[in-house]
Amino acid sequence: MSATVVIVGAGHAAGQAALSLRQKGHIGRIIMLGDESCVPYQRPALSKKFLAGEIDVSRLYFRPEKFYAEHAIELRSGTRVAALNPVSHSLTLESGEQIGYDKLLLTTGSRVRRLPVPGHDLPGVHYLRSIADVEAIRPEIRPGARLVIVGGGYIGLEVAAVTVRLGLHVTVLETEGRVMNRVVAPEVSQFFQELHRSEGVQIELGRRVEEIEGTEHVSGVRCSGGHAVPADLCIIGIGIVPNIELAEAAGIRCSNGIVVDEYCQTSAPNILAAGDCTRHPNTVLGRHLRLESVHNAIEQGKTAAATICGERIAYSQVPWFWSDQYDVKLQIVGLSDGYDQFVMRGDPATRSFAAFYLQQGKLLAVDAINSPREFMLGKKLIAAGAWPDRKALADTAMDFRQLTDAALAAAEAATKA
Ligand code: APR
Repeated sequence: MSATVVIVGAGHAAGQAALSLRQKGHIGRIIMLGDESCVPYQRPALSKKFLAGEIDVSRLYFRPEKFYAEHAIELRSGTRVAALNPVSHSLTLESGEQIGYDKLLLTTGSRVRRLPVPGHDLPGVHYLRSIADVEAIRPEIRPGARLVIVGGGYIGLEVAAVTVRLGLHVTVLETEGRVMNRVVAPEVSQFFQELHRSEGVQIELGRRVEEIEGTEHVSGVRCSGGHAVPADLCIIGIGIVPNIELAEAAGIRCSNGIVVDEYCQTSAPNILAAGDCTRHPNTVLGRHLRLESVHNAIEQGKTAAATICGERIAYSQVPWFWSDQYDVKLQIVGLSDGYDQFVMRGDPATRSFAAFYLQQGKLLAVDAINSPREFMLGKKLIAAGAWPDRKALADTAMDFRQLTDAALAAAEAATKA
């Protein structure tokens, strides 16, 4: 296929799509336009090993720099697209340059949600989403410095884990009554709160930030009710929002994400989208979703490449996510919203346990804490739409593989019946 494919964005989905296109034998031009100044890289390590200074920037790269030239992928870093014209099949760059396409793939990802309070732009106040963000934070990480983190989600807690170990005095301010409330049950939040507190992190719940104080540099964070926390440094992690503006302005259908079908096709002919920026159907879960997930970006990147190459391979995946905090690896598979039964397997005090979320007996999601087996087998159970026995799930004396095999066999029999 000799079509010119233009990819807007240069993150996980873009990197995977370009690679898959070449693997599938696409011989036409591939032009990748990214507004950051480097080659596509992996974000998860930014708030973990890269922030800790344990790995070099080149370890973040999806593929080495020379890969792009070797595979005739025209990577144009530091290039921002200003507009998209689906009628003339062209893009306008911020520089005014026009680029034509036969197939266009939007992998515009997401950006951080800004904290709309006075002082949010003071020096010493940071967000964490890019290599540049971490490079700006690093020089301010000094033992004894007082760090206030706004947001007790993935980013906030991963940053807390790294920085408290580096000798900073760390306070996390979370608006909700528990950390990671968006993704885990109260029992799991409790575990993480205790974990961080045992490491010396101050976690303050129910705190709404009203102002970031300081004149030349941040000096404190003031919450409603007048509560103030002194700060030498502030890192904000209060969620992300999808970058849909380019698509929206071009008249492409958007609804909390660029709407795509199971083949990553948008409402406009020859325009596809993949990754964090999409709202897509998930056939396993039977609903439409927008996911903030590396796994989704990679899988949709593959799907989009297949569609561009004329194949019809529908995206069908069980979502999964992970987070590393200290020596604790949290792996989440499935989506727990709407659960009506909750089962714990194992004792949180051992730092190795799993939480199961069910809805009318059907397994929706598993949070596996230092429990890779429960994660792997849980994924199979969710994919099969299985109804594992609740008592058996809670019984650690019962072998988990046996339990899984029984539930999978029952699910298969039910499908056949
Ligand atoms: N003040 C304090 N906390 C807030 C505020 C606020 N004004 N607004 C939101 N929060 C809290 C939320 O209640 C939530 O606990 O911030 C937390 C944000 O957590 P996430 O939604 O997990 O977002 P974040 O940690 O920024 O991570 C964003 O990055 O790690 C990746 O893909 C991953 O989805 C994740 C994304």
